[in-house]
Amino acid sequence: MKADFPALRQKMNGRSLAYLDTAASAQKPQAVIDAVTRAYTDHYANIHRGLYEFSQKTTADFEAARKRIARFMGVSNENEIVFTRNATESINLVAQSWGRTNLKAGDEILLTEMEHHANIVPWQLLRDQTGVVLKIAPIFDDGALDLESYKNLLGPRTRLVAVTHVSNALGIINPVKKIAAAAKNFNSGIKVLVDGSQAVVHMPVNVPETGCDFYAFTGHKLYGPTGVGVLWGRAELLNAMPPYQGGGDMIERVMFEKTTYKDAPARFEAGTPAIAEAIGLGAAVDYLDKAGMKSVAARENALLDYAMKELDKIDGLRFYGTAKAKAGIVSFTAGWGHPSDIGMILDQCGVAVRTGHHCCMPLMQRFGIDGTIRASFGLYTEESDIDALAEGLKKAKSMLS
Ligand code: ALA
Repeated sequence: MKADFPALRQKMNGRSLAYLDTAASAQKPQAVIDAVTRAYTDHYANIHRGLYEFSQKTTADFEAARKRIARFMGVSNENEIVFTRNATESINLVAQSWGRTNLKAGDEILLTEMEHHANIVPWQLLRDQTGVVLKIAPIFDDGALDLESYKNLLGPRTRLVAVTHVSNALGIINPVKKIAAAAKNFNSGIKVLVDGSQAVVHMPVNVPETGCDFYAFTGHKLYGPTGVGVLWGRAELLNAMPPYQGGGDMIERVMFEKTTYKDAPARFEAGTPAIAEAIGLGAAVDYLDKAGMKSVAARENALLDYAMKELDKIDGLRFYGTAKAKAGIVSFTAGWGHPSDIGMILDQCGVAVRTGHHCCMPLMQRFGIDGTIRASFGLYTEESDIDALAEGLKKAKSMLS
């Protein structure tokens, strides 16, 4: 697998690169790089607009990518796949389009303590605009969501539950099926949005089977290019929502008095989209289909066990997100050093990790810390990368304590 990723052949600070920051952004396989290059070299043109061959062919490639991504997510109607810039834009789209149209002062949105800022701030912006109320479901000390407390927070004014599928900071896998079912059993009108950015990369996800109404993820964590993300929503829901942005390619007819809009996905894809990037994301899901998400998950689970065994041998580490249901993310602090200092020493050892709050400041506050060291795995991660991390940590300990 590693051999498919050209960036991983390099050294960092003169040492073999142990890339353990896949949760921030995944490295790209040659197949994705080639697909993006081909999109620009074979028959590049703008899409949906030209009757000439290049435009028709690029349009076909772009729409074929949408189909492949739909299949990857278990979605049968590819028109339910909206291309956005990233998961952040997908969530902002729902907040500003569905939220502003359907919510009013006093309506409640239920989040959890482990959300990424991308699933907090869009709802705060909506709160400033409409007066909606944000409720926060707590987590246990081991990082797992407190499902009973979550259920108790559902109330007559709850309109939306917005929850991450896998915590980017802790790796905890949320039982989104149970979360969605509890919301719908309480009141079938409650909508459920799932931020799946860290889930689709780690395990097979059949999105409609989760029972949610909206599912968002970003392309660059899924081994695809930056600048492209996905929002899935049921067709009838998407088509009842007003456009998020206006412009070309999303309209049926424009008059100065009034404009009518196409159905989804076009109504949410104003302007020239990230054409080559979407085609690249199509190549990424092809690559993952071949790898098989079941074996990706099994491999990462084995690596997780190995990492816990090796890191447990190092004194003074405290782990966050220790509950059983976990993806390949290990988050910890060290009694003998600050995460930033440790991150810099690891860099010198050729080990790339993320340190800090991981865009989850409220989660860090929940644990009374300002950040952690996070090692996150991808399908190219090997035990030797974890060995390099353990060695680097031992060196950091000897330097800092
Ligand atoms: N959300 C990304 C991370 O977890 C950037 O690092």
